[in-house]
Amino acid sequence: MQEQIKNINTLEELQALYTATFGKNGTMTMRLREMKNLDNKARAALNLENTELRELFKTRQNEIENEILIAGLKKQKLDVSLNAAPENRGTLHPMTQSLVEISFILESFGYKPYTGPEIEDDWHNFTALNTPAHHPARDMQDTFFLPNGNVMRTQTSAIQIRAMESDGVPIKMFGIGSTYRKEMDATHGPMFGQIEGLYIDKDITMSDLIADIRAFLKRFFEMDEVVLRIRPSFFPFTDPSIEVDLKWKNDKWLEIMGAGMVHPNVLRNCGINPDEYQGFAFGFGWDRLAMLKYNLPDLRDFRGNDIRWLKSAGF
Ligand code: PHE
Repeated sequence: MQEQIKNINTLEELQALYTATFGKNGTMTMRLREMKNLDNKARAALNLENTELRELFKTRQNEIENEILIAGLKKQKLDVSLNAAPENRGTLHPMTQSLVEISFILESFGYKPYTGPEIEDDWHNFTALNTPAHHPARDMQDTFFLPNGNVMRTQTSAIQIRAMESDGVPIKMFGIGSTYRKEMDATHGPMFGQIEGLYIDKDITMSDLIADIRAFLKRFFEMDEVVLRIRPSFFPFTDPSIEVDLKWKNDKWLEIMGAGMVHPNVLRNCGINPDEYQGFAFGFGWDRLAMLKYNLPDLRDFRGNDIRWLKSAGF
């Protein structure tokens, strides 16, 4: 019997033999039924045989199940050449990428980052910037007015006022953020980003301004040399005011930023003595700079949050 069990190789055969042995009319079942006729010694021997046989069946069953498992695993070869499920890797939005780059460059020049609220009061957006009520320059910026007299920030220049009010001078700061104006075409949207730099100390001059602008544009556009055109301009909060154009790869002039020496009234409005301190401010469009760098034609797509467009533009 023991040999017979060991030679069985399938669970079905083992089950059949088990039933033939321990089933209702099985050989062992019958013998156990007759046990009362046996003497003590023979009873003990039969009990032992019964237990051992059951264990033998159990052991063989485990062995066969293991063999089946191993044979199955051998058959399941892992095909490592199969394509994995596609993985969507996120990237930073071009606006964010340029924000990181611009901030990194300005910080390396010693400008400290500041932020300010997008809903501004009249003082920080206009009045302190030497643009009092009824000043015609308020019309230059198609302002969104809120019912309580506040405005959607039209320029990040508001941040320079907040920075001077809170930290005083000397100060070397930049503000970056969204600004709002009622305009909409391929190169203007109602919401756009601006960056503004401000440097106030003793003996700061226009040539410091131009040097920093030149160094910044070189780094941002990764150009060996930049050719600039400085044109006189007007902003209420700077005097003299300039507009900076950059000679682009196709030899065209691109209007890049407005800048100038901070108007004495602006300094006075922030409690700073203009006879002691002076400096410059510059401001430019963050979207515009990013569009140029990544060679993107339409600013509205840029802010459209359409991932298909972003992918087709290479992001
Ligand atoms: N705030 C100006 C604008 O929005 C840009 C500017 C900033 C000009 C700082 C001069 C100095 O057009």
